[in-house]
Amino acid sequence: MRSILFVLITLSLLHSANSKSMLHLRKGASISVESNTFIISPDNSFTCGFYAMPGSNAYWFATWFTNSKGKTVVWTANRDKPVNSQGSRIAIHRDGTMVLTDVDGSIVWQTDVRATNISAAELLNTGNLVLKNSQGDILWQSFDVPTDNLLPSQILTKDKRLISSLRKGSFESGHFNLYFGSDNVLTLISDTPETSSVYWPYPGVGIYENGRTNYNSSRRAVLDDMGTFQASDHFQANASDKGFGIKRRLTLDNDGNLRIYSLINSTGLWTITWQAISQPCQVHGVCGRYAICVYAPKPKCICPPGYEVNNPSDWSAGCKPAFRESLLNSLVKFVEVSRLDYFGFDFYYKDNFSFTLEACRELCLGDSRCKAFTYKTWGSGRCYVKSELFNGLMSPDFPGSTYIKLPNKMQVSKPSIFNGSSTICESREAEILVGSPSMYDFIRTKVRWVYIYSFCGALGAIELIFIVVGWWYLFRKHGFPASVEAGYRMISSQFQRFSYGELKKATNNFREELGRGGSGIVYKGVLADDRVVAVKRLGNVFQGQDEFWAEIRTIGKINHMNLVRMWGFCSEGRQRLLVYEYVNNLSLDKHLFNSNFLGWKQRFAVALGTAKGLAYLHDECLEWVIHCDVKPENILLDGELQPKIADFGLAKLSRRDGPGSEISNIRGTKGYMAPEWALNHPITAKVDVYSYGVVVLEMIKGIKLSNWAADDTDDQENPLKRFSRMVKEKIQCGNSYWVDSIVDPRLDGRFSRKQAATLVEIGLSSVEENSRKRPMMASIVQTLMECEDETEI
Ligand SMILES: *[C@@H]1O[C@H](CO)[C@@H](O)[C@H](O)[C@H]1NC(C)=O
Ligand SMILES: *[C@@H]1O[C@H](CO)[C@@H](O)[C@H](O)[C@H]1NC(C)=O
Ligand SMILES: *[C@@H]1O[C@H](CO)[C@@H](O)[C@H](O)[C@H]1NC(C)=O
Ligand SMILES: *[C@@H]1O[C@H](CO)[C@@H](O)[C@H](O)[C@H]1NC(C)=O
Ligand SMILES: *[C@@H]1O[C@H](CO)[C@@H](O)[C@H](O)[C@H]1NC(C)=O
Ligand SMILES: *[C@@H]1O[C@H](CO)[C@@H](O)[C@H](O)[C@H]1NC(C)=O
Repeated sequence: MRSILFVLITLSLLHSANSKSMLHLRKGASISVESNTFIISPDNSFTCGFYAMPGSNAYWFATWFTNSKGKTVVWTANRDKPVNSQGSRIAIHRDGTMVLTDVDGSIVWQTDVRATNISAAELLNTGNLVLKNSQGDILWQSFDVPTDNLLPSQILTKDKRLISSLRKGSFESGHFNLYFGSDNVLTLISDTPETSSVYWPYPGVGIYENGRTNYNSSRRAVLDDMGTFQASDHFQANASDKGFGIKRRLTLDNDGNLRIYSLINSTGLWTITWQAISQPCQVHGVCGRYAICVYAPKPKCICPPGYEVNNPSDWSAGCKPAFRESLLNSLVKFVEVSRLDYFGFDFYYKDNFSFTLEACRELCLGDSRCKAFTYKTWGSGRCYVKSELFNGLMSPDFPGSTYIKLPNKMQVSKPSIFNGSSTICESREAEILVGSPSMYDFIRTKVRWVYIYSFCGALGAIELIFIVVGWWYLFRKHGFPASVEAGYRMISSQFQRFSYGELKKATNNFREELGRGGSGIVYKGVLADDRVVAVKRLGNVFQGQDEFWAEIRTIGKINHMNLVRMWGFCSEGRQRLLVYEYVNNLSLDKHLFNSNFLGWKQRFAVALGTAKGLAYLHDECLEWVIHCDVKPENILLDGELQPKIADFGLAKLSRRDGPGSEISNIRGTKGYMAPEWALNHPITAKVDVYSYGVVVLEMIKGIKLSNWAADDTDDQENPLKRFSRMVKEKIQCGNSYWVDSIVDPRLDGRFSRKQAATLVEIGLSSVEENSRKRPMMASIVQTLMECEDETEI
């Protein structure tokens, strides 16, 4: 037994070069941050010790899953008070308390049990950190002081609650709580300084309609080893992968949703196997005061007419009146927003057949407390007069309207969102799953340090894979740094706003032109901090500041090693500029169609990297972005010939109906454009797959297949089709040397047959006329990764 443990420990030692692991922290002993020492559970599934939020000097005394990618923290002692990276320590004092001290010796946290016969701290296989006496009795346990996670066998009881973290990349206590209410019902509540409001079980119906009971006052909830989460109020849920042998956690995420996650053994990634709330807008408090949650089609916060957002990067701060509130005491008017309801705060509620809209209006008009009223036309007219506007929800199912009280002379326009989406290539409307964790974005986006596992919080494994892969590359290049800080910094530099003057100076008055495209001209520049940048001056953007800012912020958050990073923007007067990282090795076309061409290894790497970048755009957790203009000219290569896709996200910035743009806003370049553009079929992410397919085939062949003469009506035999037909025939003929006859002859046979065959297959299926037959980018990545290590040349 001992030797097995020893092997385990040795293994984990090998894993991180100079860290030490132990099974007990004995009384009188201590662990400092610098010592790099950890307590592990006997089966090594959990580790406890100092955990650093990457990129910061802040440390937490925490417990995490040893084998999850990027250490998934399940418990922290000092969630709201991180300690310094130097001189902080955890110790078991003579009086039996476990004490966390900061660099200045101040006590940041300590256990509340004093028993002089406590002998040691150890971490159980369940993830429970315990203090035991010499007889082995547990005198204190971390399971009694949960943070935002409940592990299997950990019991949530009366007086305990899970509290979400405030935002991704932070452990700080947020506003969402899971606890047993005084009615014995397991409840999710949004608890902000302004208001508290229960949103689960669904507050619109009673306890019994929700399948709960309030009779059992034992108030216990537990997730068992099978994946069943059960509470004494009759609530029960099963993880979709119900069964033993799977590591799970129940987490109250920072978007207010409660989820069960299961660990995939082979990859170390998490999948969601249950969640409490399927419609993200049902979580209260995400949009803040006055604001409205709307599916457009992804969940989004907006302000009602007459109101403006407080902080575009933090919607929980809600909206504020764009008028002097005292004006509501004189002449007012009401602006109707149909299908909008605000939750609660009704100081009049009239449910009476003869109660007319006019009467409801009079009620609101006659009361200075009234900010709006809601009138439901469902059976009878129902009138709700509102003193406060919280948790606005716009839903096509709501049979009524809310009438917002505004000063009479105020000119308001309804936000364009009420008209539905108007831009193509904005999002994959049809394919968005409402309730998927894509709503992480709009909650609190004041993320300074995003960390890998919380970056997307709760997203499906596939999305994570790409991020993890990206990380892995970083790690590989940096030889697994002891702290991920270095790698982290590289990809998390702040997105910022520049003044026009700064950019003018940086580009030396827009002197060095790097290129021009449909959306604008790109100039080279050097920022004050010596970063070399590419500054794109947008040609015709008709958006207002706010809209522009909102879109840009989204693009600014997109962060992947195979996507050109946007560092900032400028929006002053009519000027709209975007600031990108400078990628120094030209675009793919220059490395393909010239004498100076890429070798096979590089071509494969470019195909894989490009696929990863696109897959990330399509499936990424924050936004769904279709590029719409994938072509070699938009695939830039860095110093190591790794691809970085440029120009994504811009489809959103130029409006179709802007002045002087009668020509529709079809982005894309002839030869790479999927047939559905011409056929007026719905545009989905599969248009990018098509373009990618063309690029892949061009990379294999080494010649342009996309530049045929203008008359594409007679496209029976354009080069692409001819090539596809020819290849398919060769494959069908069963000639085992077909690959050799297809691949770029300039390579002189120096390429991997297997990789080439895979790429040909991907290329051909990607350029299928029928978009449904084309693969998803994610599966392309997977296929390519399977033959990535092929060495035969
Ligand atoms: C040791 O701990 C046990 C369990 O709390 C307690 O019952 C016992 O009195 C303690 N003994 C001494 C000598 O403090
Ligand atoms: C109350 O709930 C607990 C825990 O779920 C259960 O053990 C107990 O039997 C329940 N009591 C009644 C009266 O149903
Ligand atoms: C969970 O699974 C059990 C069977 O193991 C079943 O009896 C129960 O109804 C399931 N609960 C839910 C909510 O599906
Ligand atoms: C995952 O790994 C654990 C321990 O390594 C093992 O007990 C379990 O059966 C594995 N589960 C699956 C689904 O492979
Ligand atoms: C319905 O409302 C009208 C107008 O306010 C009132 O006169 C009438 O008494 C109400 N009826 C009931 C049943 O409340
Ligand atoms: C939205 O619809 C209204 C009328 O329904 C119209 O006046 C307005 O121009 C539309 N706005 C946009 C951005 O389409």
